[in-house]
Amino acid sequence: MSKDKKIIEGRVLSFDKNPFDKDFDLSSLKIQRKRIFVIDGIINSIEEANFNRSDFNNIEVMDYGEHLISAGFVDAHVHYPQTAIIASWGKRLIDWLNVYTFPEEMKFNNLNYASEIANRYLNFSLSSGTTTVASYCTIHPESVNAFFEAAAAYNMCVVAGKTCMDRNAPEGLCDTTKSAYDDSKALLEAWHKKGRAHYAITPRFSPTSTPDQLSALGALWAEYPDCLMQTHLSEQVDEIDWVRKLFPKARDYLDTYETFGLLGTRGVYGHAIHLEAREIDRLNEVGASLIHCPTSNTFIGSGLFDIARLASRSTKVGLATDIGGGSSFSMLRTMACAYEIAQLRGIALHPAQLMWLATQGSAKALHLDDQIGSLTAGMAADLVVLDLSSTPAISQRSTRANDIWEELFPTIMMGDDRAIVATHVAGEKVYQRGVI
Ligand code: GUN
Ligand code: ZN
Repeated sequence: MSKDKKIIEGRVLSFDKNPFDKDFDLSSLKIQRKRIFVIDGIINSIEEANFNRSDFNNIEVMDYGEHLISAGFVDAHVHYPQTAIIASWGKRLIDWLNVYTFPEEMKFNNLNYASEIANRYLNFSLSSGTTTVASYCTIHPESVNAFFEAAAAYNMCVVAGKTCMDRNAPEGLCDTTKSAYDDSKALLEAWHKKGRAHYAITPRFSPTSTPDQLSALGALWAEYPDCLMQTHLSEQVDEIDWVRKLFPKARDYLDTYETFGLLGTRGVYGHAIHLEAREIDRLNEVGASLIHCPTSNTFIGSGLFDIARLASRSTKVGLATDIGGGSSFSMLRTMACAYEIAQLRGIALHPAQLMWLATQGSAKALHLDDQIGSLTAGMAADLVVLDLSSTPAISQRSTRANDIWEELFPTIMMGDDRAIVATHVAGEKVYQRGVI
């Protein structure tokens, strides 16, 4: 069969080193116009602009001029079923869950509704330049099937899992130890590594799972150790007090997972704001992943993630919108909020660090950095094309920039979907500003 070939050209940004490393040298990053050669959705080579390859004769060049081409954004923690309740007013975590979230999640036993929201959510993400997401679904298997099916139609690399809860949630939104195990296992067998799908075993958080359920999901993870396990950790102070009451023997919140086999290298823990020293040491020892959800943390009033302390150690840190606790589908807006939170902690994150978190940092946190998160030969051609002058306010600042970082930073701070010129998944253009 003949191969599918594409050529994409523009200014290319990609990291071969982690800008959080102490010896990182910014001048090592050369951002120039380059030509990306893609075969069957995979980057085959990246050459100088205008470079001709005889095996790509007659292939039209998609030339994005001076626009910036980056690896597509990787949103490492979202709840796609909460799309329709984004920006719900006036509550903190536990009340927000009870008042807004649980009633909405109840609707996802209906496959048609789940499919409608999954498609709506993925369209918002793609038009924001996000090419991979790790999503919680609801307790209903329909919600998982709907999501994976919708993502497969775009050939997107995604992570998702059935959210498990068997207590402290409304009756219509609880499973059991047995159904959580059986349904998760069946869904995992159906979807894990099918095309670009990856299954994550997903206990919502320890307050909504009995010790029995946590233990069953720990056993399931031991049976399928190449799966991810995603959950929430230490998001709000009230939540932590509640966990202490529910698990009086636990040393701390993290211990409620570790006791039941739910701590590991492939564990992905959302929020992780109010961690104790022991928890940080243990997470580091294990090499687990933490996901920073800045717009959610300010919107629900959770607290200030300690990026300087956590990203500089062996813990992997990813970045996420946490839809619908988060207040934007855009990873640009999310980077801006991460910048602001770090400022409140006395740290100025460099634009290179913000872009790294939104691409390779998240990809590493999800153990997908061998496939996505950077633009080099062998990686998927999942990419976003950014206009660094997308509004008059941004443009009047970026046009007087002295270097690429000064040019990019106004888009990080003030940009939104208007800055997304195009989004490609496995080479294919799946979004174009003003067209699709
Ligand atoms: N903790 C448990 N469930 C949730 C959720 O849906 N959103 C957020 N932000 N935190 C949670
Ligand atoms: Zn969440």
